[in-house]
Amino acid sequence: MCGIVGYLGQKKASDVILSGLHKLEYRGYDSCGITFYSEKKDTFITHKDQGRVRHLEDDFDYNHDNHLAIGHTRWATHGEPTQLNSHPHRSADGRFIIVHNGVIENYHEIKVKYLDNVTFTSETDTEVIVNLIEHFSKSLQISEAIRKTLSILEGSYALLILDTEHTNRLYAAKNKSPLLLGVAENGMTMASDVMALVGHADHYIPLEDKTYTEITATNDGFVYDMVDVIGKPIQTKMIKMDLVTEEIGKAGYAHYMLKEICEQPSVVRKIMNRYSKNGVFHIDENIIQALSSASNIHIIAAGTSMHAGLIAKHYFEVLAEIPTQVHIASEFAYNMPLLGEAPFFILISQSGETADLRACLVNLKEAHHPMLTVTNVGTSTLAREADYSLEIFAGPEIAVASTKAYVGQVTVLLILTFLLSDKKMFDLNAELSKAAVSMEAIIDNRDYVRQLVKDRIIKTSCFYIGRGIDYYTCMEAALKLKEISYIQTEGFAAGELKHGTIALIEKDIPVVAIITQEHISKNTRSNLQEVITRGAKTITISMKHVSNMKDDIVLMDTHELLTPLVSVIPTQLIAYYSALNLGRDIDKPRNLAKSVTVE
Ligand code: G6P
Repeated sequence: MCGIVGYLGQKKASDVILSGLHKLEYRGYDSCGITFYSEKKDTFITHKDQGRVRHLEDDFDYNHDNHLAIGHTRWATHGEPTQLNSHPHRSADGRFIIVHNGVIENYHEIKVKYLDNVTFTSETDTEVIVNLIEHFSKSLQISEAIRKTLSILEGSYALLILDTEHTNRLYAAKNKSPLLLGVAENGMTMASDVMALVGHADHYIPLEDKTYTEITATNDGFVYDMVDVIGKPIQTKMIKMDLVTEEIGKAGYAHYMLKEICEQPSVVRKIMNRYSKNGVFHIDENIIQALSSASNIHIIAAGTSMHAGLIAKHYFEVLAEIPTQVHIASEFAYNMPLLGEAPFFILISQSGETADLRACLVNLKEAHHPMLTVTNVGTSTLAREADYSLEIFAGPEIAVASTKAYVGQVTVLLILTFLLSDKKMFDLNAELSKAAVSMEAIIDNRDYVRQLVKDRIIKTSCFYIGRGIDYYTCMEAALKLKEISYIQTEGFAAGELKHGTIALIEKDIPVVAIITQEHISKNTRSNLQEVITRGAKTITISMKHVSNMKDDIVLMDTHELLTPLVSVIPTQLIAYYSALNLGRDIDKPRNLAKSVTVE
């Protein structure tokens, strides 16, 4: 939640920050702001307001040479998204300026204990941090004052700090919220996500928790110093930047979401390449060993990743024959169920930063349980902190509503379970290739889906029905439709509808049925008839081998276990075109953020 970016270097800092904020907007877009040091005026200038970065740019004064700046894009937690609550925040006597991503849990205690006579201007917890730094700076050196502050703060934070008395320095600190230092000869960039470093860094360093970083512009160039809270230097790991500008553009598509939907067949092919050698699939033997000795598996995730977990549960039980449960991360963190004799945990997270999941990880680590993270961001917190991690290689996913990361997660977990299975029921290479072709066919035919949506989906509510793995796809389909179109939608087990919820079916209510599994296709079709009889407007999505003449979308066949990879595509298109028809902000739906770093 919230994106932060800072720069000290030879480039115009405000340009680096504004372009960085655009790339970080997926993390929150209630309000945004920037502070830079104007060399001409020898003063720090702040622009901040409610709304998007493009709005900030409209009123921006570009006539200042500047090489030091920080910026923020906000997903409101403490205080409404107003101009006053927008970051950056300045300390009461004006010396320090700060941007913050995270939540300070003990901000009230800090106010009472240390900042009794400070007048606060916002409702944010952030203003407490900047004033605490100021408080300690009266008796300590700046680095000591910041480190002293860190030793008191409880909660999550990625901080960028400016000291108006040192215009050649940028200070940073981190705990739990992500923060990276991008390194280049002509300057240093700090940001919540690697995307904001593209074009400005050759290498980057993911900051460790409870660390403090100081960047200084010297006569010999830009240097950084990284220490822990007590000032002890820490070991850092330098990673080469492998993202290029093209990967984070829209490539001619109207929206990132459509681009990412269309990329899915290539994501499947990329994963096949990454996890195989000469046509033979391979995953780290340590992971295979650890899973083979598990009595049962617990998958933990949130949102779309949780739905990928439900499909994976089916794979673990059918292919690997290991009993598997799926948990909502925010529930598991505080209501841990009975775990079994030798449990193994799989955390699924596109971003690898979700706070609800991290809370689970901390508990599981304390109890010494083995854990694997499946994520799109190999350097993320959850990837680094788990015992094992598997990357899905989907490339940057920028639309808030997840599509290709979901398909990537399902694909990687399918490969993993396939390797755990003794039976090798089918040729995985051939079936994944078929699935990719089948995905392509429906993507190429998307204008037809667009027309179907125009004819059948209405504004107020919608149902998805299916059984078995189709039911899991229905849950994901419903989440996608409601996230971006704001149409209230339920993903329902087709057979359960008649036990109450069918009362909601009346004339013209849209019901989409997903039918891909032979052994239950007749049952779902009966349930579909029940809603047709009651006046529902239906759309039927089926696989060829179980299709009927009248089905609306018939998908090319792949093995039944792989059908979720294909059947989810028309549902993503239904969500996309419904939102488009309603004029919604597709890539940045209201109230949401892509990386949810608060619990
Ligand atoms: C947010 C996003 C969802 C996403 C969920 C889990 O709520 O809006 O699209 O599925 O977080 O995120 P993760 O990064 O852990 O997969």
